[in-house]
Amino acid sequence: MNILMVASEMVPYAKIGGLADVMGALPQALARAGHDVRAFIPLYDRVDTSDLDLELVFGDVDVRLGSHRYRTKIFRDLQNPTSFLVHCPVLYGRGSIYSNDHDEHRRFLTLGVAALMASQRMGFSPDVLHCHDWQAAMLPLVMKTQFGWDRLFENTRTLLTIHNLNYQGGFSSQILPDLNLGGSEHLLHQDLLREGSINFLLHGVLYADGISTVSPTYAREIQTPRHGAGMDPFLRARSSTVVGVLNGVDYDVWSPEKDVHIPYNYGLDDLSGKEKNKRHLLHSMGLPYVEGVPLLGVVSRMAGQKGLDLIADALPPYLAQRNVQLVVLGSGSSRLESLFTGLQRAFPRQVCFYQGFSNPLAHMIEAGADIFLMPSRYEPCGLNQMYSLRYGTVPVVHRTGGLADTVQMWNPHDRSGTGFLFDHHNAGGLFWATGQALKAYRDRGGWRQLMANGMARDYSWANQARVYEELYSRLMS
Ligand code: ADP
Ligand code: GLC
Repeated sequence: MNILMVASEMVPYAKIGGLADVMGALPQALARAGHDVRAFIPLYDRVDTSDLDLELVFGDVDVRLGSHRYRTKIFRDLQNPTSFLVHCPVLYGRGSIYSNDHDEHRRFLTLGVAALMASQRMGFSPDVLHCHDWQAAMLPLVMKTQFGWDRLFENTRTLLTIHNLNYQGGFSSQILPDLNLGGSEHLLHQDLLREGSINFLLHGVLYADGISTVSPTYAREIQTPRHGAGMDPFLRARSSTVVGVLNGVDYDVWSPEKDVHIPYNYGLDDLSGKEKNKRHLLHSMGLPYVEGVPLLGVVSRMAGQKGLDLIADALPPYLAQRNVQLVVLGSGSSRLESLFTGLQRAFPRQVCFYQGFSNPLAHMIEAGADIFLMPSRYEPCGLNQMYSLRYGTVPVVHRTGGLADTVQMWNPHDRSGTGFLFDHHNAGGLFWATGQALKAYRDRGGWRQLMANGMARDYSWANQARVYEELYSRLMS
């Protein structure tokens, strides 16, 4: 199959969250399975190009959006030949991946249009145009209305993957001319337009041939008012096309046997490296190592979605008893950051908060912590809990979205399960689940089995890419 993908993040070029991990792995997994995949992202100014082997494919792809004209260049990464980067400094030279600037919609429309124009120039006829999140969600409509004349796209089917329904790309209707819809403006959602807005994600939901999201549970949840973020009626209307495909894990990057960011590699047959990593992590964070005291870890964007406020409420009683330590890596909302700064101040020998983004430290926490906390309010898929499973770092999670699909409750009687889940999203729920985990930790034999159960789980991309393959085939037939 010929597969054209468009997204805003991709490892190793630009990453804020899990979308980047997915885009760093899925195109390559599909290419390994024999498909011709071309995945486009912006060449942001913050992409470190020093180690990249970029080949200029086209030096002059002119994108017109209303009265705006952008001259873009298209590069291909010769080390990752599925990756295409769209160069356009006026749009992508902002120092950050996302912005609140007045032309945010044009930054990502340009990306998609450049991908379609580059396909034309390459004579690349996609069987599937796979669009990720709001940034690419207008493309099914754009392709139909502006590229429909080109036989190259005659049989192209479109798939929208929703990684997070709460980021929708809502803009004022004043941007209408930038959409180049000409006589097709009636195809926009008219009620919203009358109210003065245009919602990018909604138009993907309306016009993509297929809609997927990143876990089966989230696929159900987003069709309910509680998790639907206002979009649930539209998703219910297209219910038969909404599917949940769990993300995979790139085990070349995220496994304790191969991890290049940790000092002691380890695996199921020899776990001694894990304790050494724990010592190393604690030392590097300025905390004392105390044998037998479990270390809890958090790696997260600090956004409301992640439910981190529960940690600040639920953990102090355990911290006060001095039988846990906590390391936290993350940045984002200043309110959440200050909660963790406060926790660190209150328990300086037990809590360390590293405010920022650090990929090596994220790996180190997966390897060095005993327990991983993910009390997300909602979680479309979540990758960190799957990474944690592989590192023998037992996850404590809220039963929602992909967390519910990937973590099974530990049962000490038959020794089945991989972690701890709580149902009610409040501090009491997290307090209870953490208590269960701490109790289980004291039974060394049981804990070893619990770690082993998680480490044996296989969420590899090779399997999940096959699921996408089947989905593409269904769309094409
Ligand atoms: P989301 O995409 O909602 O942030 P995921 O669990 O799918 O959640 O993916 C998060 C990814 O981002 C993981 O690879 C995680 O390690 C990484 N990550 C999150 N916060 C940080 C941080 N502060 N430093 C380094 N990596 C981070
Ligand atoms: C989003 C979601 C996260 C998911 C990631 C990759 O950022 O919040 O749950 O794992 O996308 O699909």
